[in-house]
Amino acid sequence: MAESFAVKLEEKRYLPDPQCRTNAWVPDYSQAYGEFMRDPEGFWENVARELVWFEPWDRVREWNYPYAKWFVNGKLNITASCLDRHVAAGRKEKPAIVWHGESGEKRILTYEALQREVMRFANGLKSLGVGKGDRVCIYMPLVPEQIVAMLACARIGAVHSVVFGGFGPDALAMRINDAGAKVLVTADVGYRRGKTVPLREIANEAIRHTPSVERVVVLRRESPGAGLDPAREVDYAALTGEAAPDCPPEVMDSEDPLFILYTSGSTGAPKGIVHTCGGYMVGTYYTARHDFDIKETDVFWCTADPGWITGHSYIVYGPLAVGTTVVIAEGTPDYPDPGAYWRLVQDLGVTIFYTAPTAIRMFMRYGDEWPAKYDLSTLRVLGSVGEPLNPEAFEWYYRTIGGERCPIVDTWWQTETGMHMITTMVGEPMKPGFAGKPIPGAVVDVVDRTGKPVPPGTGGFLVIREPWPAMLRTVHGNDERYCAYWKTIPGCYTTGDLAVKDEDGYIMVLGRADDLIVVAGHNIGTAEVESALVSHDAVAEAAVIGKPDPLKGNVIKAFVTLRVGVSPGDGLTDDLARHVRKSLGPVAVPAEIEFMDRLPKTRSGKIMRRVLKARELGMDPGDISTLEE
Ligand code: WT7
Repeated sequence: MAESFAVKLEEKRYLPDPQCRTNAWVPDYSQAYGEFMRDPEGFWENVARELVWFEPWDRVREWNYPYAKWFVNGKLNITASCLDRHVAAGRKEKPAIVWHGESGEKRILTYEALQREVMRFANGLKSLGVGKGDRVCIYMPLVPEQIVAMLACARIGAVHSVVFGGFGPDALAMRINDAGAKVLVTADVGYRRGKTVPLREIANEAIRHTPSVERVVVLRRESPGAGLDPAREVDYAALTGEAAPDCPPEVMDSEDPLFILYTSGSTGAPKGIVHTCGGYMVGTYYTARHDFDIKETDVFWCTADPGWITGHSYIVYGPLAVGTTVVIAEGTPDYPDPGAYWRLVQDLGVTIFYTAPTAIRMFMRYGDEWPAKYDLSTLRVLGSVGEPLNPEAFEWYYRTIGGERCPIVDTWWQTETGMHMITTMVGEPMKPGFAGKPIPGAVVDVVDRTGKPVPPGTGGFLVIREPWPAMLRTVHGNDERYCAYWKTIPGCYTTGDLAVKDEDGYIMVLGRADDLIVVAGHNIGTAEVESALVSHDAVAEAAVIGKPDPLKGNVIKAFVTLRVGVSPGDGLTDDLARHVRKSLGPVAVPAEIEFMDRLPKTRSGKIMRRVLKARELGMDPGDISTLEE
């Protein structure tokens, strides 16, 4: 990309009701940010003190560039803060999880019930030989047991690796193998648009190639239940039914790993981002409570799946550490009709609603009549995450869903950051198109290639200057890839995003600088899709680009060259799409496939995706001096 470039900034502002500000946990952003900057360690220490520790830390932070430790030598178990402390402090009967199924079923787990389920499943895992440090892969639909499984791992110090239920067998197998998971937890099926997703079947296909997996726990939802293979499979209900009810939390060090979560890299295989116990707990707790301004009576609904970082941090760990009521809903936003989400907001009295721009744009397309049918007056705060929230979508969300009453917190962060880094705190003036300012606790900047800040109105690289508690600690099995985050621009963590600041310090995120494609809020690596395409018999080579799309943000376009003797005849496009779907899942399927005689390449043989992209979008391809011919 160009060294720096001018960006025209729209200057519209929305001022929320002054009451929002008066009542907020952070009534004065500037003051809170100032307090943090004067004493960053003291700031985080005060947050950490609100949570449960078995032994206190010696030092708040140890920064040995590019490696950070937080709450050094502190001992904890994140489930003691997410469960035990609430059960002990009068939230026993409070709903922790309210689950809603596609056909209207509802299940409520109070904090006490959730704690009980977690302890039972934790003991069940122990009986399968899972212990501290072992990896457990969780491949489940959006049901309470998915969350129970995550917390049960945390309870006994096992490291979970959750794989989103929309991924196919190859994507699942790759992630299991990279993590070396010993146990896989899955379900017979998920439900989506009135149909079943055969998770157990996909899991069985995957584990033919995963030697590390010893046992598979299967949650059976269908009746009659599928027959299980007694040599390998264990019934979830039987396992928990036989397990002892009490499971004291394993004592974990602050820096022990809590989970691995895979995110697509621009080149090579997906990266297993490693998060640890102490800092992650403190960072997600603080941001959940303060950025969403969660109060005791709130009902919090984050529409993500726990298979993504948004679900880890803002369905499971952050909101439960706060002690709020968390809504989860299996299925899609427009099934059985486009009013499904708004009906749920009304019926459950949701007060804080957190979703992605792609969903907001989809609702916009269905029209105002759907939300108009329901009473959305319980809503108090709206959130957005995953991609830039374009001004049109902001305004629609603000007016039609928020009734011009609710502040919108557009939260910028990444799998790697673990927690929000930029937003507009509740009560602050909002600017459509801008995520906002660094949260108190984060030091964020927009810089040129050398790390020098660029002036307001000039685009540059979005970086983070100081370590933060919930930051990734490494890439599983690949420290070099971890170090690359901190070495691309000297001294800073490089986010890979382009951004611009305005005169007031508001940050507008412009998108990815590298080859990642964000499709409907899901981060897809070009390399993974290309390699799936190339694994098809007919395909010689493939190059994949993101193409702006009004609904999904981006869609995938694939350029494919065929093997000699193969012609793009009957049904090949469909066949390739099916092939990618089967291997990587529906999120990675190209919207368009174009057959080419050859792909543009550099002399060293690297495919030049930006040339394809420029051609596709009718733009100047820029410097093509490295082009093969
Ligand atoms: C990338 C990280 C973090 C949860 C979901 C995605 C983009 C994320 C925003 C936002 C503009 C955003 C960035 C970022 N992104 N939030 N509010 N405004 N862009 O996590 O899969 O790790 O993707 O998502 O490009 O780098 P992820």
